[in-house]
Amino acid sequence: MKALVCRTWGPPETLALEDRSDPVAGPGQAVVRVHAAGVNFPDALIIQNKYQVTPELPLVPGSECAGVVESVGEGVQRVKPGDRVIALTGSGAFAEKVMAAAEALTALPADVDFVTGSAFLLAYGTAYHALTGRAALQQGETLLVLGAAGGVGLAAIEIGKALGARVIAGASSPEKRDLCREHGADEVIDYAAAELKPALAALTSGKGVDVVFDPVGGPSTEAALRSCAWRGRHLVIGFANGEIPRLPANLTLLKGCSLIGVFWGRYVRTEPAAWASDLQTLFKWLREGRLRPHVAERYPLDRGAEALAALLARKALGKLVITPVAP
Ligand SMILES: NC(=O)c1ccc[n+]([C@@H]2O[C@H](COP(=O)([O-])OP(=O)(O)OC[C@H]3O[C@@H](n4cnc5c(N)ncnc54)[C@H](OP(=O)(O)O)[C@@H]3O)[C@@H](O)[C@H]2O)c1
Repeated sequence: MKALVCRTWGPPETLALEDRSDPVAGPGQAVVRVHAAGVNFPDALIIQNKYQVTPELPLVPGSECAGVVESVGEGVQRVKPGDRVIALTGSGAFAEKVMAAAEALTALPADVDFVTGSAFLLAYGTAYHALTGRAALQQGETLLVLGAAGGVGLAAIEIGKALGARVIAGASSPEKRDLCREHGADEVIDYAAAELKPALAALTSGKGVDVVFDPVGGPSTEAALRSCAWRGRHLVIGFANGEIPRLPANLTLLKGCSLIGVFWGRYVRTEPAAWASDLQTLFKWLREGRLRPHVAERYPLDRGAEALAALLARKALGKLVITPVAP
């Protein structure tokens, strides 16, 4: 099979398409023929050795995909060959075939195509867990989403609206802000250029925002925390900006507000029953059309590195997907 391989830590250009032997399913595992693999920011961090964990090299990146089960190992009851599934793989999905633990597979609903399925779980799962499980976002509250035209950002806009919040979306270009509006944002701001705090004060009649969804980090984090309302919740999702901000602790005291960490991958492993319940709601909302994953571009496997480069260059609108099997 063909796979996109990382042999040395570095930028996406260092990835190479290689022939590898097909994976063989061991006990409790399944081999999935990858039809589409979602591209996520952590994939771009992992190949540069900038992620929380350091995997061994050589490495095939790709943390989620949708495809068809080709074979299963001993003891696997959950799926069978021929089943359409979404796989949370951690790595390995930028390939024609990937091995996954059977419990990391979710049935792909019959009415959901592979490309949509591959772009759904990580982004929407993270946003749903953050906004419900961590921030307890309430109907009528104001939600600020930073990096709002990105993968988890657009998902947070849609989930915020589904939960009945008023959503303010921060994105860096007019094209990105238009996309945020199309996906339900009530207000849009250029959080990079604008003075964030006065802009948010004006949009909230001086009250501040109840919940901040922050996958960006860098200087906008402190400005957003300073814009929290009384009892606000600032969700630490990630640091796409590259800078992990250091924050004055007194800001939380003055606002009676909370800084809340979100680690969806660990949540899925640690609280599988809660995640299974989240999944039911997410698929229901997808079927109802309340969630509309936006896949801006598809890349064949041999151009997969370009997808990671586009993400790092801040060019992606919504999700990018690699399609080892032409859809
Ligand atoms: N905590 C968790 O469990 C969890 C789960 C999934 C992802 N994440 C994290 O969430 C973040 C976003 O992931 P994603 O897949 O949604 O990525 P994405 O689609 O690339 O979106 C990231 C957004 O960040 C903004 N950004 C600001 N400075 C940037 C820079 N220097 N380079 C790139 N983007 C920059 C961009 O929006 P503008 O151009 O509008 O500023 C971009 O749209 C990442 O840090 C990722 O690791 C965390």
